[in-house]
Amino acid sequence: MYTEKVMDHFTNPRNMGELENASGVGTVGNAKCGDIMRMYFDIDENGVINDVRFKTFGCGAAVATSSIATDLVKGKTIQEALQVTNRAVVEALGGLPPQKIHCSLLAEEAIHAALWDYAEKNGITIEGLKKPKSDIHEHEEEETIEY
Ligand code: FES
Repeated sequence: MYTEKVMDHFTNPRNMGELENASGVGTVGNAKCGDIMRMYFDIDENGVINDVRFKTFGCGAAVATSSIATDLVKGKTIQEALQVTNRAVVEALGGLPPQKIHCSLLAEEAIHAALWDYAEKNGITIEGLKKPKSDIHEHEEEETIEY
């Protein structure tokens, strides 16, 4: 059911924990399954994500997607981080079972939420970033993703 990569990130998650004095913190949930994901970004003056941590209260797929998502955004610019979509996360994991695709949406939305928080704290606008939802359940209903 799960790829080796998913199992690896689930059993040995990268970048788990919190960052004190994070530049941006984003929290998203899914009311349907009750899972919650929080991401902490440390962004430097050049707009590079120097450090990142996550805390996920959720299913194994949510833990694995948070872990790989943090790996994918670490060391990247804000614009590069915006390219880390749920599709990119699923691809990096070598796939997810269809009923678990929604878990990867949490990761994409948590990245957006952390960047949104950073932008708000600094009074800036990040091109291409829309206000993230705090609950992806609504969004999930609209999305039909085929893998
Ligand atoms: Fe809710 Fe995976 S079941 S995020």
